[in-house]
Amino acid sequence: MATIKFKEMSQYKIEKTPVPTEDYGYNKYVEHIGMQMKSHNGVIGVALFGVGRAGVIHLTSLLKNPRVRILYIVEEDKSKWDALKNYWSLNDIKFLQSIDANHVYNDKNVRAVVVTSPTYTHETIVQNALEHDKAVFCEKPIAEDMEKSRRCFEKAKKVGQPLLAAFNRRFDAAYSSVRERVRNGEVGHVNTIKVCSRDSPLPSTEYLKISGGIFHDCAVHDIDMIVWILGEYPIRVAVAASANIPEIAELNDFDTVAIVLTFASGTVGMIDLCRYSNYGYDQRLEVFGFKGMVKVENQQPIQGIETTYGLERKTCPMYYSFATRYQNAYVNEMEHFLDVVEGKEKIKVEPLDTLAVSKIASACEEAARTGKNVEIKWDPEELPKFNH
Ligand SMILES: NC(=O)c1ccc[n+]([C@@H]2O[C@H](COP(=O)([O-])OP(=O)(O)OC[C@H]3O[C@@H](n4cnc5c(N)ncnc54)[C@H](O)[C@@H]3O)[C@@H](O)[C@H]2O)c1
Repeated sequence: MATIKFKEMSQYKIEKTPVPTEDYGYNKYVEHIGMQMKSHNGVIGVALFGVGRAGVIHLTSLLKNPRVRILYIVEEDKSKWDALKNYWSLNDIKFLQSIDANHVYNDKNVRAVVVTSPTYTHETIVQNALEHDKAVFCEKPIAEDMEKSRRCFEKAKKVGQPLLAAFNRRFDAAYSSVRERVRNGEVGHVNTIKVCSRDSPLPSTEYLKISGGIFHDCAVHDIDMIVWILGEYPIRVAVAASANIPEIAELNDFDTVAIVLTFASGTVGMIDLCRYSNYGYDQRLEVFGFKGMVKVENQQPIQGIETTYGLERKTCPMYYSFATRYQNAYVNEMEHFLDVVEGKEKIKVEPLDTLAVSKIASACEEAARTGKNVEIKWDPEELPKFNH
């Protein structure tokens, strides 16, 4: 037998291949099997505000998390309460409306508050929670504008509690890998970084009315990802934007946007953003330099299947929406928040990061509305210290 000479000693005796860091879910699985949480200083009492599209995602992960006990759900729409209790078997959780939220704030057992209610409600909840010494996880954006967000971060600093803006892209394994490669110089100096971000399904007009507009609601994710990867902030933005959906035009918002970001180092950033894609949640990233290119293509819920019937060749569709495309990222960001609450990790999304992203989003909106390039001036104290 020609290959007999390659036979090694017993596979039990040779060094095992390490678990790839990319399979981060496996490490969690091992923790669960051994019932030994890496960081577990007792159960963290949590109150969740708002159980809609984003709230359900975090409710699901909190319910599964052994280091969390949800004590309260504050959900304004009382008609949802019974269905929520029955569906999730939430018999031990107290349900409240926001008018009674002082019970949450005054309860010393509530260590952390998770805010997934509409953006216009964030500031009040965040301020109250911080005032009562709770750690806060808040869905993006922290508040409707930069000034309100700044006030929230000032309060967080004053009371010494973490306030995490949930930028889920930072907790996605593929994007994290790209960042690491870029920071290791694999493509050299970055010439261009391109993000394609097309939403699915089309959000309801009720949501769009209170969303804060496409720049603060959607583009913030893409802007944050670009500056997080590059470790640099743009000095100029140019934007072309239009509303091809009449209902969105009526709201004086845009559904189709192209953003060009110019960076002092010579990098050019591009964001191709749309409120609706009928073929799924189109999320792509590409970073190009003279040494090469790294990219993240769309991911599919079922991989490896391909059918060919006649001349037609097909694979499975990409993920349909954010809830599934970023399902692991949402879990990771919550784990990170809990690690921060337990003092095991330093917060990964700093206040200055969030404020800077909000400033860039406002500059983009100004550029879209005026049709002019907008220069962005940065005071040194506005710029986050990137961990290079
Ligand atoms: N990171 C992401 O991928 C992502 C995705 C979607 C939404 N979001 C963010 O999450 C937030 C919520 O958006 P959504 O799409 O889930 O909205 P939604 O309308 O689907 O859900 C909001 C829920 O909050 C409830 N609510 C309203 N006022 C409240 C109050 N004062 N206190 C408690 N509950 C209240 C509503 O009844 C509703 O059930 C927004 O800030 C949005 O920007 C983030």
